[in-house]
Amino acid sequence: MKIHNFSAGPAILPQVVIDEAAKAAQSYENAGLSILEMSHRSKEMAAMMTEAQQLVKDLLNLGDDYSVLFLTGGASSQFFMIPMNLLNEGEKACYVDTGAWSAKAIKEVSNFGDVEVLASSKETVYNYLPKDWAVPADAKYLHITSNNTIYGTQYQSYPKTDALLIADMSSDIFSREFDATQFDLIYAGAQKNLGPAGTTLVIVRNEILGKVSRNIPTMLDYQTHIKKASAFNTPPVYPIYVCLLTLRWIQGQGGLKAMEKRNQEKAALLYDEIDRNPFFKGTAAVEDRSLMNVTFVANNKAHEEAFLAYCTANGISGIKGHRSVGGFRASIYNAMPMESVAHLVSLVQNFKPE
Ligand SMILES: Cc1ncc(COP(=O)(O)O)c(C=O)c1O
Repeated sequence: MKIHNFSAGPAILPQVVIDEAAKAAQSYENAGLSILEMSHRSKEMAAMMTEAQQLVKDLLNLGDDYSVLFLTGGASSQFFMIPMNLLNEGEKACYVDTGAWSAKAIKEVSNFGDVEVLASSKETVYNYLPKDWAVPADAKYLHITSNNTIYGTQYQSYPKTDALLIADMSSDIFSREFDATQFDLIYAGAQKNLGPAGTTLVIVRNEILGKVSRNIPTMLDYQTHIKKASAFNTPPVYPIYVCLLTLRWIQGQGGLKAMEKRNQEKAALLYDEIDRNPFFKGTAAVEDRSLMNVTFVANNKAHEEAFLAYCTANGISGIKGHRSVGGFRASIYNAMPMESVAHLVSLVQNFKPE
Protein backbone atom coordinates (compact mmCIF):
# COMPACT_ATOMS: atom_id res chain seq x y z
CA MET A 1 0.00 0.00 0.00
CA LYS A 2 1.28 3.47 -0.87
CA ILE A 3 1.79 5.64 2.22
CA HIS A 4 0.85 9.31 1.83
CA ASN A 5 3.03 11.42 4.12
CA PHE A 6 1.07 14.33 5.62
CA SER A 7 3.55 14.89 8.45
CA ALA A 8 4.23 18.46 9.60
CA GLY A 9 7.98 17.93 9.58
CA PRO A 10 10.33 16.29 8.92
CA ALA A 11 8.07 16.04 5.93
CA ILE A 12 7.51 14.74 2.44
CA LEU A 13 10.21 15.40 -0.16
CA PRO A 14 9.91 14.97 -3.93
CA GLN A 15 10.59 11.34 -4.91
CA VAL A 16 13.25 12.42 -7.42
CA VAL A 17 15.07 14.22 -4.62
CA ILE A 18 15.07 11.10 -2.47
CA ASP A 19 16.27 9.00 -5.41
CA GLU A 20 19.12 11.41 -6.23
CA ALA A 21 20.08 11.72 -2.57
CA ALA A 22 20.22 7.92 -2.27
CA LYS A 23 22.48 7.77 -5.33
CA ALA A 24 24.82 10.39 -3.89
CA ALA A 25 25.06 8.42 -0.64
CA GLN A 26 26.47 5.58 -2.76
CA SER A 27 28.59 7.67 -5.10
CA TYR A 28 28.58 11.44 -5.59
CA GLU A 29 28.52 12.41 -9.27
CA ASN A 30 31.97 11.57 -10.69
CA ALA A 31 33.88 11.87 -7.43
CA GLY A 32 34.08 8.12 -6.85
CA LEU A 33 33.17 8.72 -3.21
CA SER A 34 29.98 8.75 -1.18
CA ILE A 35 28.91 12.28 -0.29
CA LEU A 36 28.84 11.03 3.30
CA GLU A 37 32.61 10.71 3.34
CA MET A 38 33.54 13.81 1.35
CA SER A 39 35.37 16.81 2.73
CA HIS A 40 33.42 20.04 2.86
CA ARG A 41 36.60 21.61 1.46
CA SER A 42 36.60 19.43 -1.65
CA LYS A 43 35.99 21.26 -4.92
CA GLU A 44 32.76 19.28 -5.41
CA MET A 45 31.28 20.28 -2.05
CA ALA A 46 32.40 23.90 -2.42
CA ALA A 47 30.65 24.01 -5.82
CA MET A 48 27.59 22.31 -4.32
CA MET A 49 27.34 24.97 -1.60
CA THR A 50 27.78 27.82 -4.09
CA GLU A 51 25.05 26.43 -6.33
CA ALA A 52 22.63 26.02 -3.39
CA GLN A 53 23.26 29.59 -2.21
CA GLN A 54 22.84 31.00 -5.71
CA LEU A 55 19.65 29.04 -6.37
CA VAL A 56 18.09 30.43 -3.19
CA LYS A 57 18.84 33.93 -4.47
CA ASP A 58 17.61 33.13 -7.98
CA LEU A 59 14.30 31.69 -6.76
CA LEU A 60 13.72 34.72 -4.52
CA ASN A 61 15.11 37.31 -6.97
CA LEU A 62 17.71 38.50 -4.49
CA GLY A 63 20.97 40.21 -5.35
CA ASP A 64 24.39 40.28 -3.75
CA ASP A 65 23.22 42.65 -1.04
CA TYR A 66 21.93 39.47 0.64
CA SER A 67 23.88 36.50 1.99
CA VAL A 68 22.58 32.96 2.08
CA LEU A 69 23.74 30.68 4.88
CA PHE A 70 23.09 27.06 5.73
CA LEU A 71 23.59 26.92 9.49
CA THR A 72 23.03 24.35 12.22
CA GLY A 73 21.10 24.54 15.48
CA GLY A 74 17.65 24.52 13.89
CA ALA A 75 15.29 27.43 13.43
CA SER A 76 15.20 27.50 17.23
CA SER A 77 18.78 28.83 17.36
CA GLN A 78 17.69 31.76 15.20
CA PHE A 79 15.35 32.75 18.02
CA PHE A 80 18.40 33.95 19.99
CA MET A 81 20.90 34.61 17.15
CA ILE A 82 18.64 37.32 15.73
CA PRO A 83 18.49 39.54 18.83
CA MET A 84 22.12 38.70 19.66
CA ASN A 85 23.24 40.00 16.23
CA LEU A 86 20.78 42.84 15.76
CA LEU A 87 19.68 44.29 19.08
CA ASN A 88 21.74 46.43 21.42
CA GLU A 89 20.90 46.59 25.10
CA GLY A 90 18.20 49.24 25.53
CA GLU A 91 16.89 48.80 21.97
CA LYS A 92 13.48 47.34 21.30
CA ALA A 93 12.35 44.43 19.14
CA CYS A 94 8.68 43.87 18.30
CA TYR A 95 7.02 40.48 17.83
CA VAL A 96 3.57 39.27 16.85
CA ASP A 97 2.67 36.23 18.93
CA THR A 98 0.90 33.89 16.54
CA GLY A 99 1.84 30.52 17.98
CA ALA A 100 4.16 28.37 20.06
CA TRP A 101 7.11 29.10 17.75
CA SER A 102 6.60 32.87 17.97
CA ALA A 103 6.34 32.53 21.74
CA LYS A 104 9.63 30.62 21.86
CA ALA A 105 11.28 33.33 19.75
CA ILE A 106 9.90 36.06 22.05
CA LYS A 107 11.26 34.31 25.14
CA GLU A 108 14.86 34.72 23.95
CA VAL A 109 14.87 38.46 23.25
CA SER A 110 15.12 39.79 26.80
CA ASN A 111 18.59 38.23 27.08
CA PHE A 112 19.77 40.92 24.66
CA GLY A 113 17.40 43.90 24.65
CA ASP A 114 13.79 44.94 25.14
CA VAL A 115 10.86 43.10 23.63
CA GLU A 116 7.33 44.31 22.91
CA VAL A 117 4.64 41.84 21.94
CA LEU A 118 2.39 43.85 19.63
CA ALA A 119 -0.50 41.38 19.64
CA SER A 120 -1.27 37.78 20.49
CA SER A 121 -3.97 35.27 19.62
CA LYS A 122 -2.94 32.90 22.39
CA GLU A 123 -6.28 33.18 24.18
CA THR A 124 -8.05 31.45 21.31
CA VAL A 125 -5.31 28.84 20.82
CA TYR A 126 -3.82 30.94 18.02
CA ASN A 127 -6.66 30.24 15.61
CA TYR A 128 -6.29 33.59 13.83
CA LEU A 129 -3.66 36.21 13.04
CA PRO A 130 -4.13 39.45 14.98
CA LYS A 131 -4.39 42.40 12.59
CA ASP A 132 -5.01 45.35 14.85
CA TRP A 133 -1.48 46.39 15.75
CA ALA A 134 1.15 48.92 14.76
CA VAL A 135 4.91 48.96 15.01
CA PRO A 136 6.19 51.74 17.30
CA ALA A 137 8.65 54.20 15.80
CA ASP A 138 11.46 53.09 18.11
CA ALA A 139 11.35 49.41 17.08
CA LYS A 140 14.63 48.04 15.76
CA TYR A 141 12.95 45.16 14.05
CA LEU A 142 9.60 43.42 13.63
CA HIS A 143 9.50 39.62 13.77
CA ILE A 144 6.67 37.55 12.34
CA THR A 145 6.09 33.84 11.82
CA SER A 146 4.85 33.69 8.23
CA ASN A 147 3.14 30.31 8.61
CA ASN A 148 2.06 28.83 11.91
CA THR A 149 2.68 25.13 11.45
CA ILE A 150 0.69 23.96 14.47
CA TYR A 151 -2.44 26.09 14.02
CA GLY A 152 -2.73 26.32 10.23
CA THR A 153 -2.60 30.11 9.90
CA GLN A 154 -0.52 32.01 7.35
CA TYR A 155 -0.04 35.68 6.53
CA GLN A 156 -1.76 36.44 3.22
CA SER A 157 0.28 39.61 2.87
CA TYR A 158 3.19 40.95 4.87
CA PRO A 159 3.22 44.01 7.14
CA LYS A 160 4.85 47.21 5.98
CA THR A 161 7.16 48.82 8.50
CA ASP A 162 10.08 51.22 8.77
CA ALA A 163 11.73 48.81 11.20
CA LEU A 164 13.75 45.87 9.91
CA LEU A 165 11.44 43.05 8.88
CA ILE A 166 12.27 39.50 9.92
CA ALA A 167 10.34 36.30 9.30
CA ASP A 168 10.44 32.73 10.47
CA MET A 169 9.42 30.99 7.23
CA SER A 170 10.21 27.48 8.44
CA SER A 171 6.98 26.00 7.19
CA ASP A 172 6.22 27.99 4.03
CA ILE A 173 9.52 29.01 2.46
CA PHE A 174 9.43 28.64 -1.35
CA SER A 175 5.71 27.82 -1.31
CA ARG A 176 4.47 30.98 -3.03
CA GLU A 177 5.61 34.11 -4.78
CA PHE A 178 6.47 37.11 -2.64
CA ASP A 179 8.76 40.11 -2.70
CA ALA A 180 11.70 38.87 -0.63
CA THR A 181 13.40 42.28 -0.76
CA GLN A 182 10.89 43.59 1.78
CA PHE A 183 12.60 41.35 4.35
CA ASP A 184 15.92 42.00 6.06
CA LEU A 185 16.26 38.49 7.42
CA ILE A 186 14.41 35.27 6.63
CA TYR A 187 15.10 31.94 8.28
CA ALA A 188 13.72 28.45 7.88
CA GLY A 189 14.54 25.06 9.32
CA ALA A 190 15.02 22.83 6.28
CA GLN A 191 12.85 19.94 7.38
CA LYS A 192 9.49 21.02 5.94
CA ASN A 193 9.70 22.49 2.48
CA LEU A 194 13.36 22.09 1.71
CA GLY A 195 15.19 19.01 2.91
CA PRO A 196 15.89 16.80 5.89
CA ALA A 197 16.53 18.08 9.41
CA GLY A 198 20.09 19.21 10.06
CA THR A 199 20.41 22.61 8.46
CA THR A 200 18.68 25.98 8.71
CA LEU A 201 18.49 28.39 5.85
CA VAL A 202 19.26 32.01 6.78
CA ILE A 203 18.95 34.82 4.25
CA VAL A 204 20.20 38.16 5.52
CA ARG A 205 20.65 41.63 4.11
CA ASN A 206 24.35 42.27 4.66
CA GLU A 207 24.10 45.91 5.66
CA ILE A 208 22.06 45.21 8.81
CA LEU A 209 24.94 43.29 10.42
CA GLY A 210 27.93 44.50 12.45
CA LYS A 211 25.99 47.19 14.28
CA VAL A 212 25.75 45.84 17.82
CA SER A 213 28.29 46.64 20.48
CA ARG A 214 28.35 43.29 22.31
CA ASN A 215 30.93 40.59 21.74
CA ILE A 216 29.20 37.83 19.78
CA PRO A 217 30.64 34.31 20.15
CA THR A 218 32.34 33.46 16.85
CA MET A 219 29.98 30.64 15.83
CA LEU A 220 26.90 32.73 16.61
CA ASP A 221 27.96 35.74 14.57
CA TYR A 222 26.34 35.76 11.11
CA GLN A 223 29.36 37.61 9.76
CA THR A 224 31.65 34.68 10.62
CA HIS A 225 29.64 32.43 8.34
CA ILE A 226 29.25 35.03 5.60
CA LYS A 227 33.01 35.59 5.44
CA LYS A 228 33.61 31.85 5.05
CA ALA A 229 30.84 31.14 2.51
CA SER A 230 28.86 29.17 5.10
CA ALA A 231 31.78 26.80 5.71
CA PHE A 232 33.53 28.34 8.72
CA ASN A 233 33.24 25.02 10.50
CA THR A 234 32.15 21.69 8.99
CA PRO A 235 28.71 22.28 7.49
CA PRO A 236 26.21 19.40 7.21
CA VAL A 237 26.88 18.83 3.52
CA TYR A 238 24.44 15.96 3.06
CA PRO A 239 21.35 17.83 4.32
CA ILE A 240 22.50 20.87 2.33
CA TYR A 241 22.86 18.71 -0.78
CA VAL A 242 19.30 17.44 -0.32
CA CYS A 243 18.18 21.09 -0.04
CA LEU A 244 20.01 21.79 -3.31
CA LEU A 245 18.19 18.89 -5.01
CA THR A 246 14.87 20.31 -3.77
CA LEU A 247 15.80 23.80 -4.96
CA ARG A 248 16.63 22.38 -8.41
CA TRP A 249 13.30 20.54 -8.37
CA ILE A 250 11.42 23.75 -7.50
CA GLN A 251 13.18 25.59 -10.31
CA GLY A 252 12.49 22.75 -12.75
CA GLN A 253 8.79 22.80 -11.86
CA GLY A 254 8.58 26.50 -12.77
CA GLY A 255 9.75 28.22 -9.58
CA LEU A 256 7.62 29.87 -6.93
CA LYS A 257 4.83 30.79 -9.34
CA ALA A 258 4.27 27.12 -10.17
CA MET A 259 4.56 26.10 -6.51
CA GLU A 260 1.95 28.67 -5.52
CA LYS A 261 -0.51 27.57 -8.20
CA ARG A 262 -0.27 23.91 -7.17
CA ASN A 263 -0.40 24.73 -3.47
CA GLN A 264 -3.53 26.81 -3.96
CA GLU A 265 -5.22 24.03 -5.91
CA LYS A 266 -4.35 21.39 -3.32
CA ALA A 267 -5.46 23.53 -0.37
CA ALA A 268 -8.72 24.52 -2.10
CA LEU A 269 -9.61 20.89 -2.73
CA LEU A 270 -9.16 19.99 0.92
CA TYR A 271 -10.69 23.11 2.49
CA ASP A 272 -13.73 22.88 0.19
CA GLU A 273 -14.40 19.35 1.36
CA ILE A 274 -13.94 20.22 5.04
CA ASP A 275 -16.35 23.17 4.65
CA ARG A 276 -18.90 21.03 2.82
CA ASN A 277 -18.70 17.95 5.02
CA PRO A 278 -21.18 17.84 7.93
CA PHE A 279 -18.83 15.82 10.17
CA PHE A 280 -15.78 18.12 10.14
CA LYS A 281 -14.83 21.76 10.53
CA GLY A 282 -11.66 23.80 10.02
CA THR A 283 -10.01 25.33 13.11
CA ALA A 284 -8.27 28.38 11.61
CA ALA A 285 -10.01 31.67 10.73
CA VAL A 286 -10.99 31.39 7.07
CA GLU A 287 -9.17 34.58 6.03
CA ASP A 288 -5.92 33.36 7.63
CA ARG A 289 -5.95 29.79 6.38
CA SER A 290 -2.61 28.24 5.54
CA LEU A 291 -1.80 26.69 2.18
CA MET A 292 0.67 24.41 3.97
CA ASN A 293 -0.97 23.05 7.12
CA VAL A 294 -4.70 22.34 7.00
CA THR A 295 -6.09 21.96 10.53
CA PHE A 296 -9.53 20.51 11.19
CA VAL A 297 -11.51 18.67 13.84
CA ALA A 298 -14.57 16.41 13.88
CA ASN A 299 -17.75 18.18 14.94
CA ASN A 300 -18.29 15.29 17.32
CA LYS A 301 -15.01 14.62 19.12
CA ALA A 302 -16.02 11.00 19.64
CA HIS A 303 -15.61 10.42 15.88
CA GLU A 304 -11.96 11.43 15.75
CA GLU A 305 -10.42 8.14 16.80
CA ALA A 306 -12.42 6.27 14.16
CA PHE A 307 -11.42 8.74 11.43
CA LEU A 308 -7.77 8.50 12.38
CA ALA A 309 -7.95 4.70 12.27
CA TYR A 310 -9.73 4.88 8.89
CA CYS A 311 -6.98 7.16 7.53
CA THR A 312 -4.21 4.93 8.86
CA ALA A 313 -5.85 1.84 7.36
CA ASN A 314 -5.89 3.65 4.02
CA GLY A 315 -2.28 4.74 3.85
CA ILE A 316 -2.46 8.21 5.40
CA SER A 317 0.48 8.97 7.68
CA GLY A 318 1.15 11.92 9.99
CA ILE A 319 -2.30 13.48 10.04
CA LYS A 320 -2.92 13.62 13.79
CA GLY A 321 -3.23 17.23 14.95
CA HIS A 322 -0.82 18.82 17.38
CA ARG A 323 -1.92 18.12 20.98
CA SER A 324 -2.65 21.82 21.60
CA VAL A 325 -5.22 21.94 18.77
CA GLY A 326 -6.36 18.30 18.62
CA GLY A 327 -8.13 16.77 15.65
CA PHE A 328 -6.18 16.62 12.43
CA ARG A 329 -3.50 18.48 10.54
CA ALA A 330 -2.81 17.68 6.92
CA SER A 331 0.53 19.18 5.96
CA ILE A 332 0.54 19.62 2.20
CA TYR A 333 3.95 21.09 1.51
CA ASN A 334 5.36 21.71 -1.99
CA ALA A 335 6.28 18.06 -2.54
CA MET A 336 2.81 16.74 -1.68
CA PRO A 337 1.21 15.57 -4.94
CA MET A 338 -2.36 16.49 -5.83
CA GLU A 339 -3.21 12.74 -6.00
CA SER A 340 -2.41 12.35 -2.29
CA VAL A 341 -4.63 15.30 -1.37
CA ALA A 342 -7.39 13.85 -3.57
CA HIS A 343 -6.97 10.51 -1.78
CA LEU A 344 -7.37 12.19 1.62
CA VAL A 345 -10.40 14.14 0.35
CA SER A 346 -12.02 10.90 -0.80
CA LEU A 347 -11.51 9.43 2.68
CA VAL A 348 -13.08 12.50 4.30
CA GLN A 349 -16.00 12.14 1.86
CA ASN A 350 -16.48 8.43 2.47
CA PHE A 351 -16.12 8.51 6.23
CA LYS A 352 -19.43 7.58 7.79
CA PRO A 353 -19.29 7.77 11.58
CA GLU A 354 -21.24 5.04 13.46
C1 LIG B 1 7.36 27.87 12.24
C2 LIG B 1 8.42 27.08 12.95
N1 LIG B 1 9.46 27.73 13.50
C3 LIG B 1 10.44 27.05 14.13
C4 LIG B 1 10.42 25.69 14.27
C5 LIG B 1 11.53 25.00 15.00
O1 LIG B 1 12.43 24.47 14.11
P1 LIG B 1 13.69 23.61 14.58
O2 LIG B 1 13.18 22.31 15.06
O3 LIG B 1 14.51 23.52 13.32
O4 LIG B 1 14.40 24.37 15.66
C6 LIG B 1 9.37 24.97 13.68
C7 LIG B 1 9.37 23.50 13.78
O5 LIG B 1 8.42 22.81 13.59
C8 LIG B 1 8.34 25.68 13.02
O6 LIG B 1 7.30 25.04 12.46
